Amino acid sequence: MKTNALAHKSIQPKILYYGTPVVLLTTKNEDGSTNISPISSSWALGDCIVMGIGYGGKAVENLRQHPECVLNLPDPSLWKQVELLAPLTGKDPVPSYKEQMGFRYEKDKFAAAGFTPMPSATVEPKRILECPLQIEAKVVNIRTPEHSPDFAIVEVKAVKVHASEDIVLGENYIDPASWSPLIYNFRHYFGLGAQMGKSYRSET
Ligand SMILES: Cc1cc2nc3c(=O)[nH]c(=O)nc-3n(C[C@H](O)[C@H](O)[C@H](O)COP(=O)(O)O)c2cc1C
Repeated sequence: MKTNALAHKSIQPKILYYGTPVVLLTTKNEDGSTNISPISSSWALGDCIVMGIGYGGKAVENLRQHPECVLNLPDPSLWKQVELLAPLTGKDPVPSYKEQMGFRYEKDKFAAAGFTPMPSATVEPKRILECPLQIEAKVVNIRTPEHSPDFAIVEVKAVKVHASEDIVLGENYIDPASWSPLIYNFRHYFGLGAQMGKSYRSET
């Protein structure tokens, strides 16, 4: 442990991205094509997944018009392709606040990032072939937090999970030794470190 590790300091960080997996959220555009939005604000419990998504982007607009999506989870080897998407939005025209942040409009994000679209089984937006975990989902609720009007809390129900064969254990388990999410840690990309142990409830 570092010296002073327990001497806490009160700070005011601009962001609270404290290390969550990157999700490449695919949604259906008005012309039937698929948009990709990188997000990192999500959690899952059972088949319920909740995401925090800004109203200024294309994703919420698409989810309101067509309430289906795929949560594609990249592994750490894909971070450069994820970062190619970072300055792009599917929103045309680009909202001025996003323009000031360096965003530009891109219709074909698959081509822009070198990803391959593949059909989904139960929803219309396409999956991303290169992502080892893909969760097809349907929107259950979209609401605005009272204290924060700029983003939506989007609740979805997972309806189908696809996992690359090399991370599957037995019939229905993900092998945590083979799978690593890409972690967004205060705007830096990380993979997982070495395993520390496992929960008493682990079945693998
Ligand atoms: C790694 C990463 C994580 C991000 N996490 C979020 C997030 O959790 N919520 C959000 O609204 N935007 C997040 N963003 C910003 C969106 O990607 C950005 O708003 C973009 O405009 C979304 O694309 P779209 O406008 O085509 O939907 C993140 C960006 C990156 C690169």
